[in-house]
Amino acid sequence: MEKRILSGMKPSGELNIGGYGGALSQFVAMQEKADCYFFIPDLHAVTVWQDPRELRERSMEIAALYLAAGIDPKRSAVFFQSQVPAHAELGWLMETQTAVGELGRMTQYKEKADGRESVSSALFTYPAYMAADILLYQATHVPVGDDQKQHLELARNLAVRFNSRFKKNLFTIPEPIIAGIGSRIMGLDDPSKKMSKSNPNRSSSILLMDEPDDIRRKFAKAVTDSEGVVRCDWDRKPGISSLLEIYSVFSGMTIGDIESRYQGVGYGSFKEDLAEAVIAKLEPLQRSYREIAGSEELDRVLKDGALRAAEAAAATLKAVKEAMGFVV
Ligand code: AMP
Ligand code: TRP
Repeated sequence: MEKRILSGMKPSGELNIGGYGGALSQFVAMQEKADCYFFIPDLHAVTVWQDPRELRERSMEIAALYLAAGIDPKRSAVFFQSQVPAHAELGWLMETQTAVGELGRMTQYKEKADGRESVSSALFTYPAYMAADILLYQATHVPVGDDQKQHLELARNLAVRFNSRFKKNLFTIPEPIIAGIGSRIMGLDDPSKKMSKSNPNRSSSILLMDEPDDIRRKFAKAVTDSEGVVRCDWDRKPGISSLLEIYSVFSGMTIGDIESRYQGVGYGSFKEDLAEAVIAKLEPLQRSYREIAGSEELDRVLKDGALRAAEAAAATLKAVKEAMGFVV
């Protein structure tokens, strides 16, 4: 069977190197080998409050970053979720197949809802819609960061359930692709929490659009430990382990090679070289972003992507509706 890949990054804040390591860098690497759909899940961003002007800006930013990072719109469809109505429609139908108990077990929901006075019902039902995003395109593989594992498991369960309740083999069962290195990049201020777009502390993340001096300053301040040995040990040295992972993603070196290179060398020069490795990768990406952002070409790519996606999605949606007994 031909490989078909689908994934996306929510336009809910400025993209950081966590999303780059866990998702975006994988997208680019995979497009050679598969039929790809890379979308911007804007309908999912609004499960929590988004300022309308910012949502529009962020959505265009992510689209431009996809292309700047190397996604080739000739090979891959790049589009906004909200421009392909089949996502919302299949999302509703998948919700009818999902138990409240399953959604209540989602750790991301629990984390996001924790401490909030009120949360939208969409934040709760969102994983059923994420399953729809994937199943709509009969995706065989879904590259995501570690935090999406549980959502992917639900998508697989829903596909199996639907196939057995209504029609065998209607949905392809998607496989997650979780990068060995880069799938779990932690906050620079607190290595027990993932680097996150929603963290208000700007020093906790390296943003893809950060200036070189900001990158150097943020790494210099990153939390480590007092042992002074550059060694990967997630239990005892989560700060250094996460920095090693970032170094590996951005340099292409293995963790072992990096550990050997910094034997007997303090954290200071390790962090300086790490910053330079990240800057070397981000500078060309930022240059290319400036050329693409706001261009007519980008608008054309998104329009074309939405058409291609809608066409692929329509076939699945029709089959689902028929299988469920709707008059089509
Ligand atoms: P989001 O920006 O939350 O929509 O996430 C987009 C993709 O990036 C998802 O596949 C996430 O799993 C991945 N991702 C987000 N933050 C990180 C992180 N700190 N480390 C690795 N992957 C991440
Ligand atoms: N839930 C993903 C995140 O928070 C974003 C997303 C939405 C997604 N739909 C998807 C990722 C489908 C992969 C496939 O990061």
